[in-house]
Amino acid sequence: MFITLEGPDGSGKSMQIGGLAEFIRSQGYEVITTREPGGTAIGDQIREVIMRMDNKAMHPRTEILLFCAARAQIVSEVIKPNLEKGVVVLSDRYADSTLAYQGYGHRIDLDILRRILAFVTDGLTPDLTLLLDVDVEKGLSRRHSSGGEWNRLDDYELAFHQRVRNGYLELAAADPKRWKVIDAGNSPQQVQLALQEAVRTILKPKPRG
Ligand code: TYD
Repeated sequence: MFITLEGPDGSGKSMQIGGLAEFIRSQGYEVITTREPGGTAIGDQIREVIMRMDNKAMHPRTEILLFCAARAQIVSEVIKPNLEKGVVVLSDRYADSTLAYQGYGHRIDLDILRRILAFVTDGLTPDLTLLLDVDVEKGLSRRHSSGGEWNRLDDYELAFHQRVRNGYLELAAADPKRWKVIDAGNSPQQVQLALQEAVRTILKPKPRG
């Protein structure tokens, strides 16, 4: 079972993922968590190039291919082999981040991105995608105040982040079977419970034996 967490910056994915993995484990499943960009030795090196504040000249097309290069690596090195062993894979971001940020955010043609993503992921689509939806200004101010790592990609203007959020909502509305929208403006405890509730619909507790 392949589950992805998506959402705009400051939606609290990274804060929630550990608790959700713990919940899945308590249901009797083996689970691993991964994050993008990064998550492999090669992917972490690519992540550094993407995030460096001084790489201001990076063209959106370059950025897409770097995100996608890191993703191709984690799909083949980590995600697919674990899914084949029956392990639940819970990923902080996946291909939908590229559609939301590069497609809706930077207005790169969505059909072209979908073709690139099909190649990069080898056709692997999540079984469930949890969208942590939060008001853009609230999300960005959370990120500032939590003292989280601030990088080149956070530095874009508000309108960009608004397009990303709306893009996510459009993707979710177009495929409601795969996507579940979670209100991430609620308290962290409420958000965690809503995530667990959504996961429960596709992972029945395993009898222990
Ligand atoms: P990160 O510090 O991991 O932030 P977060 O905790 O919000 O996930 O930075 C990831 C940034 O990269 C984030 O701003 C989203 C962006 N991103 C893309 O633009 N395209 C992509 O395909 C991916 C995976 C991430």
